[in-house]
Amino acid sequence: KERIAILISGRGSNMDALIAACAKPSFPASVELVISNNHDAAGLDTARDAGIPTQVIDHHQFGKDRQAHERQIDAALQAHNISTICLAGYMRILTPFLINNWEGKILNIHPSILPLFPGLDTHAKAIKAGMKVHGCTVHIVTEDMDQGPILGQAVVPVLPNDTEHSLAKRLLKQEHLLYPQVLKNFLRKEEPDINVDALING
Ligand code: GAR
Repeated sequence: KERIAILISGRGSNMDALIAACAKPSFPASVELVISNNHDAAGLDTARDAGIPTQVIDHHQFGKDRQAHERQIDAALQAHNISTICLAGYMRILTPFLINNWEGKILNIHPSILPLFPGLDTHAKAIKAGMKVHGCTVHIVTEDMDQGPILGQAVVPVLPNDTEHSLAKRLLKQEHLLYPQVLKNFLRKEEPDINVDALING
């Protein structure tokens, strides 16, 4: 099995979905490490409950030295023999140091149909733009934020009375389905077999 690390900053629900998928014997990966940049990340508790080693590598202790923070992350990844990194609600932009050290091996899930709505507040931006569909994207992380090669996407309808919250909630369910599936296909070097119609119709 491929040895996966998951980087989180908060709730960690996508991390949960990846942990659950990896727990299946047929899944080609196992989660060997969860790193959070934030002591308070709720996902840390769930990871610990699942018996997965966790590390908090708090960026605050490095001041403005982003590379020093990432050197520590890199050391933890090496120490655990990690081969693939999944960002799951990890809310810091990576520097070229980590991206180049792990070129083509870092995946991220972003809550929009990239290349639309990179960055933050994607649900509000989709509603404001009058979108009839919204979605999520799993992509390879490159130096250009939210612009790396797209591995898979899922979409949901935007309904007339949607708020940021209701839309985010609808989309999150699809994130949890998409990320494990894309990871599996990525590791097996297969094309995704995601049925968009099925996702739209729930
Ligand atoms: C998810 O919606 C994820 O797509 C998004 O943050 C949320 C994290 O939730 N990620 C980004 O916005 C990355 N820029 P989770 O902690 O419950 O997985």
